Amino acid sequence: MTEILIQKAYKEVKKYRNMVKNDPYRLNYHLMPPVGLLNDPNGLIQFKGVYHVFYQWNPFETAHGAKFWGHYTSEDMVYWREEPIALAPDEWYDQNGCYSGSAVEEDGKLYLFYTGNVKRDDGTRETYQCIAVSENGIYFKKLGPVLKLPEQYTPHFRDPKVWKKGDHWYMVVGAQTLDEKGIVALFHSNDLFHWEEAGTIAGSDMNGLKEFGYMWECPDLIHLNGKDVLLVSPQGLNPDGDFYQNLFQSGYFIGELDYEPLRYQHGSFTELDRGFDFYAPQTFTDENGRTILYAWMGITDEMEAHQPTVENGWVHALTIPRELELQGGKVFQKPVEELKKLRKDQALVKNNEFEAVSAELILDFKKNGPFKITFRNEASLSYDTAKLTLKRRNLKTGEAESRTCKLASVSKLHIFMDHSSLEIFINDGEEVFTARYFPDSENVIVSFEGEAEFTLIKWDLG
Ligand code: FRU
Repeated sequence: MTEILIQKAYKEVKKYRNMVKNDPYRLNYHLMPPVGLLNDPNGLIQFKGVYHVFYQWNPFETAHGAKFWGHYTSEDMVYWREEPIALAPDEWYDQNGCYSGSAVEEDGKLYLFYTGNVKRDDGTRETYQCIAVSENGIYFKKLGPVLKLPEQYTPHFRDPKVWKKGDHWYMVVGAQTLDEKGIVALFHSNDLFHWEEAGTIAGSDMNGLKEFGYMWECPDLIHLNGKDVLLVSPQGLNPDGDFYQNLFQSGYFIGELDYEPLRYQHGSFTELDRGFDFYAPQTFTDENGRTILYAWMGITDEMEAHQPTVENGWVHALTIPRELELQGGKVFQKPVEELKKLRKDQALVKNNEFEAVSAELILDFKKNGPFKITFRNEASLSYDTAKLTLKRRNLKTGEAESRTCKLASVSKLHIFMDHSSLEIFINDGEEVFTARYFPDSENVIVSFEGEAEFTLIKWDLG
């Protein structure tokens, strides 16, 4: 069974590889599925010096379905190898998807934690938190479920993120209470295999938070500059001014977690990204102690099916890796240093118009003022000295749509352009706008207008 399903997936990759590769919207330096649909980054880890990125993958369709774990490895997070499929949905406990999860190292072995998703014929769902192990980080052996659904939650219970503190293991799981509130549940274990519930650490209607969504996906609890930061992707928030404009959100709470007795005191929710395409982020700590984040550069919504890459057999990508830092009560994100390896042909740009397709731009502002940057006639970033606005064409209707964020000043823009993506880091990562966009491949012009003055350095990214 296992072999047959995996062989079927490889056959699909082989059959469509050329079509996928020749898509003009294929990205140059982002991780993408070889064919089919990619969503969440999973199992991020640096294991024995090598960076591992796994991802939610449906090799058979450009739609969601019974997910596999695809797998890439790298020495530097810049140049990647495509590895054999890590997990395929072929056991009774994961037959409708090896859903999202995380990775840890113990005794020189790599352990994956993931959610086994099962859909019964009557449409109801079962969920099992499962474990798989590998000696070499490439071939994984499934060891089956280690945690069953506790009775106080609905089967929307998934995405285990595991970490070690002292000699004890902890796991956060995204969950829904029986009265349909999104929460994060904490479990602990001595040995990775036997888990006990410690309690609920945060959620809708908890810790002073009001109603805050019907389900919280992909929790990640990290220690950042002395604080306990909970990253989570809540579903069911209504748009509120400039906030929560996408169908689902991803953001964080900053606080302090006491384990005994269990209590997480935290502040308000802050969105990690202000653009259109960012969801289900996950972090890991690398061997240099950096906290690095990847997210899905996409989101589950009605627009997915309208992405033009669908007709070429693939859809979605991951963001570039971003290093996290806590500064003045805010999580700052900056592209990891290693990405500098991609740079070639440095240019100091003096014109208001230049060519850029797959490029990195750094704008250092000398004089604040309104400006507008137009990217390949398909997206624009404009600033009116109070608000920054990213516009693009809606994939379904073709009309302009925008995302806006209040900003008192813009001192720096660090922009990563790829064939069909934009990642814009503002003021050294104080805010980030991430978006897919699909310009005409003939149109390669980026242009500026406005009163702001800046120096601009550009590199093509190879
Ligand atoms: C988030 C998510 C997770 C789930 C996975 C399934 O995008 O819905 O909660 O584990 O995707 O692919």
